Amino acid sequence: KKIAVFASGNGSNFQSIVDYIKEGKLKAHLALLVCDKPGAKVIERAKNAQIPSFVFNPKSYESKEHFEKDILQQLIEYEIDLIVLAGYMRLIGPTLLQPYQGKIMNIHPSLLPSFPGKNAIEQALEAGVKITGVTIHYVDEGMDTGPIIAQRAVEISEVDNAETLAQKIHQVEHTFYPEIIQQWINENK
Ligand code: GRF
Repeated sequence: KKIAVFASGNGSNFQSIVDYIKEGKLKAHLALLVCDKPGAKVIERAKNAQIPSFVFNPKSYESKEHFEKDILQQLIEYEIDLIVLAGYMRLIGPTLLQPYQGKIMNIHPSLLPSFPGKNAIEQALEAGVKITGVTIHYVDEGMDTGPIIAQRAVEISEVDNAETLAQKIHQVEHTFYPEIIQQWINENK
């Protein structure tokens, strides 16, 4: 299966997917990075891994429909089967949702439906919950609202702060996402 990762920033999840494939632990072809932030670190990671990237600036387009049409063209060109959102900081519109129904997944750093949207890690600390975690779900038109595929719990200890909790959550994400991508591939042969 050919996958495209969409990311806007650091790309540590992108990197873990690259590494899993390299080590033979994820049997997929990571064919394309799509990035909406020229200059983002994830672009460098793609270059180093010799993975093609489509980088665009949303501001130079009239609307979401326009840039998503360009993205779709790339996805078709690379024959992408599955879209993996990994820190892509915008909602997906109908231009991509329709042709890729049930083929777009996202990873979110909380146990949804708790703490959707930005700053989920800070939101969990603020709320004082003792267990948070990571959710992988299918993407629909809403913000972190699609059907849940899998979840993993992370405990919040007395001494955790935003930094230490983010570290714990990222550590879980980096093994969890490749595993669930492999599961999706096995189920969609
Ligand atoms: C992750 O915490 C993910 O759950 C959220 O965005 C973050 C992306 O981190 N959607 P990175 O760019 O993969 O390092």
